[in-house]
Order: sequence, then structure tokens, then C-alpha cells
Amino acid sequence: MLLSEALPARTDETNVFRLAYVSRARRALTRPEAEALAVASAGQNRERGVSGVLLHGHGLFLQWLEGPAAEVCDLMARIERDPRHEEVAVLCAGWIGQRRFSDWSMRVIGPTGSDGAAILVPLAGGDRGRTRAAQAARAFDAAARLYLADGLGGPIWEDLAADLVQPLAKGGEAALAPLPEVLLTSPRARAAFTDALCRMLAQGWTEDRFTGLDVALASVRLNRLLLRAGRSCEPIQSRGAVVLLVPENATEIIGAMVKADLLRASGYSVKFLPAAQTRTLAPVLDATEGCPVMVYGGRLGIDAGDARRARALGAWLAGERPGRTVLTCGRATGALSEWPDRLEFLTQARAPFAGRGVDWSAVAALAAARPGARMH
Ligand SMILES: Cc1cc2nc3c(=O)[nH]c(=O)nc-3n(C[C@H](O)[C@H](O)[C@H](O)COP(=O)(O)O)c2cc1C
Repeated sequence: MLLSEALPARTDETNVFRLAYVSRARRALTRPEAEALAVASAGQNRERGVSGVLLHGHGLFLQWLEGPAAEVCDLMARIERDPRHEEVAVLCAGWIGQRRFSDWSMRVIGPTGSDGAAILVPLAGGDRGRTRAAQAARAFDAAARLYLADGLGGPIWEDLAADLVQPLAKGGEAALAPLPEVLLTSPRARAAFTDALCRMLAQGWTEDRFTGLDVALASVRLNRLLLRAGRSCEPIQSRGAVVLLVPENATEIIGAMVKADLLRASGYSVKFLPAAQTRTLAPVLDATEGCPVMVYGGRLGIDAGDARRARALGAWLAGERPGRTVLTCGRATGALSEWPDRLEFLTQARAPFAGRGVDWSAVAALAAARPGARMH
């Protein structure tokens, strides 16, 4: 299979409406019950053009629905009345640039993946809305990774990174074949590949196969190759603005550069600030009032100082600008390629609201009347 064939199919669909909620199961579903729900839901959703994923476990349901606004809202009105669950809280509802689970009419997934890794953790309850939204975002990221692995027939980015890590770290550019086409055309593929490569470089460093200099040179070489390959040609949709800060003295910024590229190609306007210092940040923060701020904490993770500096800058920002959305990011916060969806989810999901009693037909009418509007 050619790598370019492995890319998820592009659709020309615009105005996809996405709704995510969490609810409490009245009782745990047995496996046959979960399978019956999956089959019935997938059948109905396919007819209505709805796709998504339903995670269940720890007494919870966490569902992502995407499709035409009227269909999603109509479905939500039925789901929230379903006696199998209660305390339905909508995490976010709004327009997204493209579907995230287009080939899944409704995949039902338990709390752990087939490799035993946790997908759904018990979510924070009560008024800890932000924590809950972040945990939900992580669970949807994990589901999206399963979706990509499903659709792409295996971990192709890992294979590609395994081929390139040695020449990048040791051999110099002369030893490198041109990058495969898919890395030149898809920022999401670049991000997934960069993630895999950073993991392998860090592992090689831990096992003494690569020196610190090898690792640094590898990221410089990769950056040069990506720059030479040019910018992406993905469609631009306006999804908002974001500030991306790299703390001063960071030892590695390749992930931040790839992330800025990916976010821009996904329709975000990105104010990118390498070597950010607290004493010169005020004018930037004033000029970008209202935009979320992301603080980069390193992808390689071989210098604990990167994550520490990001946490310190994040804490300073939270104290200095209370109310501003500040997201510290790095290796521990999930896949690089998932950040556009994750950012959109986190910025929309600030105040979960009770699903019960919502007039979903009114929401559908509002959504249809104002495509592009954000709902909180
Ligand atoms: C957690 C949960 C998720 C559900 N997800 C879907 C879904 O994605 N699609 C669907 O058609 N029904 C879904 N259902 C079932 C609906 O609530 C409802 O039973 C079904 O759509 C039949 O509705 P009706 O009896 O009004 O025709 C879900 C139920 C639960 C408890």
C-alpha cells in the first residue's frame, strides 16, 4: 500500500456539527447489551449521516456525535431521554472543520483498548468542569488514535520513523532519501510522524545508542527537511486564534514548530513565540486578549527542565491573567496530531451544561441559522 493511499479520505463536507456529552449509567451494560446498542445505533446513525464514538466504563458514558446539526440534535433529544443513563451533561456543542470519526457510524469502546491501555478514566465530578473536559478530551484522543490505527491498517508512522531515525541521528542529510509524499502534503501526518520520531530518539538516548548531540542534530535535520518540503496545502477554515509560547531556554522546539504548522493548516491563526520571557510577554498577551495560550513543554522529554519551565510559565500566566485559558502541552498531554481537535474541544468545553430539559430542536434551528457560530 502506498503511504498516500493510507491517508484518511478527504470529504468536501462543511458545517459538521459536533456534540459531546458525559452521563452516568444507571447500571453497567453487559457485553451483549453493549453490542446490541452498538449495532442498533450504528444502523440508525448511518441512515442519518451521523458518526462518532461511545465510550463506556467506570459507570459512565462519554459520547461524541458528529453530522448534520438537525440530525445530531434530534438524536440527542432521544438519547437524553433514554432510561439507561442519567445526569447527562453536555461538554461541548458546535461546528467543527471536519469529521473526526467519519468511518465509525457508532463504535462502542470499553474503558481499555485491546492492548490493555486505559482509554476512559473515572472523570472528575461536581463542578470541576475544566478537569472533566480535559479528561474527556484525552479519552476522545485515545479513541481517535484507535480510529486512525483502524483505518490506516497499522502504525505506519512508527514504521516510517523506525526507518528514518538512524540516518537522521547519525548519517546526516546525505544519507536521507526524500521524505515520502504524505509527509509533504499532510500536516497531520507530519505531526504523527514527529511524535513517533521523538519517542524513538528519546528511547535511543535512554539506552545510550544516541548522544544528546545526535538527538539535537536529528531534530534540526528533520526541521530543515520539513521546511524544504514547504507548507501544507490543506484547506483553510477559520477556527479562531491561539498563542503558542515556547519558554526561553527550551532545549527542543521541533514539536512546537510542527504543531504551529498543523494548527495553521487546520484553520487557526497562530501567534508563535519562541524563547518567551515573562518580562516581555505583557504586550503579546494584551494584543491577543481572549485567545487561548498554549505553553510548549517539549516532545522529546529527555530534559525534565523543558516540562518544568513550561509548568512554571503556565503557572505564572494563570496568576497574571486569571480567566485566560492556559494549556500546558508536551509529551504527556497526548498526540501532537490530535491538537487541532483537542484545542477546539477544550476551548468549547468550558462550562458543561445539563442535557436534560434542553430544547434540542431550538438548538438545531439556531445551528442551522448561523453556520460557523460557536455555542458554549
Ligand atoms: C449512552 C447511549 C448512547 C446512545 N447512542 C445512540 C446513537 O448514537 N444512535 C442511536 O440511534 N441511538 C443511540 N442510543 C439509543 C437511543 O437513546 C434510543 O434508544 C434509540 O435511538 C431509539 O430511539 P426511539 O425509540 O425513539 O426510536 C443511545 C443510548 C444510550 C443510552
